[in-house]
Parts: sequence; structure tokens; C-alpha cells
Amino acid sequence: MPQYIPEPFRIKMVEPIHLIDKAARQRALKEAGYNVFGLRSEDVYIDLMTDSGTGAMSQEQWAAMMTGDEAYAGSRSFFRLKAAMDDIFGFKHFVPTHQGRAAENILCAVLLKPGQSVPSNMHFDTTEGNIRARGGIPSNLVAQIAYDPQAETDFKGNMDLEALEAWINQTGVENIPFGMITITNNAGGGQPVSMANLKAVSKLYRKYKIPFFIDACRYAENAYFIKLREPGYADKTPLEIAQEMFSLADGATMSAKKDGMVNMGGFLALNDAALFERVKAELILREGFPTYGGLSGRDLDALATGLYEALREDYLAYRLSQSEYLCGRLREAGVPIVEPAGAHAIYLNAAELLPHLSREELPGQALSISLYLEGGIRAVELGTVAFGLLEDGKWTFPALELVRMALPRRTYTQSHLDYVADVLAGIKDKAAQIKGVKMIHAPELLRHFTAQFELA
Ligand code: F0G
Repeated sequence: MPQYIPEPFRIKMVEPIHLIDKAARQRALKEAGYNVFGLRSEDVYIDLMTDSGTGAMSQEQWAAMMTGDEAYAGSRSFFRLKAAMDDIFGFKHFVPTHQGRAAENILCAVLLKPGQSVPSNMHFDTTEGNIRARGGIPSNLVAQIAYDPQAETDFKGNMDLEALEAWINQTGVENIPFGMITITNNAGGGQPVSMANLKAVSKLYRKYKIPFFIDACRYAENAYFIKLREPGYADKTPLEIAQEMFSLADGATMSAKKDGMVNMGGFLALNDAALFERVKAELILREGFPTYGGLSGRDLDALATGLYEALREDYLAYRLSQSEYLCGRLREAGVPIVEPAGAHAIYLNAAELLPHLSREELPGQALSISLYLEGGIRAVELGTVAFGLLEDGKWTFPALELVRMALPRRTYTQSHLDYVADVLAGIKDKAAQIKGVKMIHAPELLRHFTAQFELA
């Protein structure tokens, strides 16, 4: 049996959930056009759609919210957040934003010119979208091993350093306004980046005078992977490791809805004073005054508290054991997953689980429909529907056909995960009966949120 570390908390407030019966699930799916984004959350039993903003806050965070200062300018809440930001991230300046993509938007607004390129290990889709929206070109330079779902290595989110340097020379420094790296690499299975790789990436960016921004969404989980796996870090605290990681960069964007442990929030942080002036101007236009960004004072307080909670070792040990446990149960049941386990999500290999379906029959979408139909579980397709190109009725398929089950923080218990594993084991047993899916309507951009399907 895989090991599960008991939750380092007990439950003080409950949110009832219900498993509606199968006929009702069938009806709900039909009404949603067989797209789980169209379901009402009331009709979902276990919601693994995302770990973003869906976690539970602590009593300390709720208490901190009560002390929120809603002053338009210079609120106490801002300075409490600033103290946490200075301590953990150490950048000279920062602005709060309403979420991660707002920070990306502002960064692109102040630095990116049309035709320029931005490298990363793998950009998340909102980052990619923000770069493209300004006429830029996102480039993914993760080490090739990231594309092999079975390959096991400690830091599968690492950047390919040789490819990065070759790419910089080929692209020309004048065409690269800034470089990024995503920790952990969400688009590549939630895999961590090592400190050695961060150092080498930082050195390269500095050699070419390219400002280096970290996408810090899951920085605490990345720090803990470094502690567990990288020589020399076993005796350091996650806070010390986080401080070292950010000391290597010139700034960071963050969706605080992940390791900020809040339901809404984000920030853009940076060292460059002249750039910060332009960031503030853009922020005032789009988000709000620089001491609140897009957030309420109470949100800033919840975040100031949450940033430290995410770095607690007992929490991180439990957090990683959750995904490792669920992966272990799925391995035992022979359900194909992306290896090794990341922290925030488990990625199911739908093409391998449903080999009787061709890629045109959208096995990822079919699996996400089955998860809901069989168990009231909501998980997201990250395959052809999300990333495939469709031109004149012909698909160009992405490398992988995955379904992501993300784990909201401090929300579900071991028995919920056992339930998910049991439902998936049942799906595997009757996989051959699962039918393909046809897309009957799709918007041009960000298709997977609103596309409509029918069963084949
Ligand atoms: N960067 C990464 C690595 C992300 O995972 C996300 C969001 C963002 C940026 C954007 O942040 O949503 O606050 O605007 N990821 C969520 C997810 C949506 O489900 O993985 P946001």
C-alpha cells in the first residue's frame, strides 16, 4: 500500500457534497454538451478540475481577513503582505494583481514588442496567451525527457540548457525581452525544476542580459521537491530554499491561488526600479492602485498568511504524499499515469487507457466524460481538445492525450482519494466499452472551456 501522511489539520467547517444518481449525471452531462466545464459544481461529487483557488483557508487566514484594512492607499494589509514578500521572495518591488494572468498581462505590456520571443521550460496557457496577445512568440525549451510520460527522473521540469543557449543565439538577444521558467512545470505534468537548473538558467540569462522572471505559482511544492531530492538541501527549510530560488531571478509572476493558499490573488514582483514605474502605471490602468492591485485589503492579509503556510514542512510532506498515494493506488490498478507523481495533480494517460479509440475519437474527452458518469468526478482533458489544431476538419494532434486530476489544497481526504482510485479501476475494467466522442461545436480560441460534444 502506498503511504499516506495524515492531514496536519482537523476539520472545523464542512461543505456538504453529494453524489447525484447516475441518471441525473447522464442528464447533467447532456445538458453540459458533454463538456465538464459546463457542469454545475453542485452536480459534481469530487471536483479535481483545478487546484487553483479551490483550496481551504486556515483559521489563521480567516482571522487575518478580519483585520483587513480596506484603505484605498497604503493599507496595513499591504504592508503585512510586503513583509512576507520581502522575506520569501526578496524582490525590491511588487504589486498585487487579481490573479496570475493579470501579472502576466502587465509584464507583457511593459516589456514585450510584437515579433519578440519569450523562452521558458513550458509556458502555462495563460502566459502563452498573453505573449501572443501582444504579438509575441512563446517558446518551450524543457528537456526532451518531459515529453516521455513513462520516463522517471527527479527534475523532469528542467530547462534544456544547451537548447536554450542555441535558441538565444539563433533568436538574437535583441528579440528576447525577458526569459521565464515555470516552477513546478504545470503544463508538463507538475514536474519540479532543480536548484542546479535554476542556477544555470539564471547564469545564461545573465550572460546575455535577458531579464529572468520565474512563474512562481507552485514555488513551495518545488522547494520541497528540491529539499527531498537535490543533494545539499536536505537540511534547509523550504523557506530558505525558496529564498535561494528567487535570489537567482530578476522578478516573478504568481497566481497566488495555488501556493498562496487563497481563493483569489496574484502578484508581479521585480527588482528594476525604472521598470517598476511602468508596471505601476499599467497596474493603475488595469487593476487598481499599487497597494491593492485587483484585491481587497482582507485578501492581501489572507495571502500574507497563506504564503508561509504553504512553506510548512508538515503541510508539504502531507501534500506530496497525497499525490504520491493516489498515483500509487492507480499504479496498483494498472491505470496509466504520467510518471513520476507531481505535487498538485495526477495526469492520466487517456490514449493508453483507451487504446481502442483513435485520436480522432478524442480519448481524453471520453475519459473525462466517463469519470463524471461513473463517479461524479470532474477532471480536465489536456489532449487533443485543449491543444490539438483543427484545420478544414483535420486534426494535428499534440504529443500526449492526458486528463488532469488536480488536487485542491487541504480539501479532500484519503477516503476521497480512495474513492477516485476505485472509480478509475472500474473504468479500466470496462475500458473497451467506452465510446469515442465527436466535437460538434468549438470556439476559435481556448476551445476546451466551451466546446460541445456528442457521444459516438
Ligand atoms: N501559471 C501557471 C503555471 C498556472 O498553472 C496558472 C494557472 C497560471 C499561470 C495563471 O494563473 O489562473 O491565477 O490567472 N493555472 C490554473 C490551473 C488555472 O488549473 O492549472 P491564474
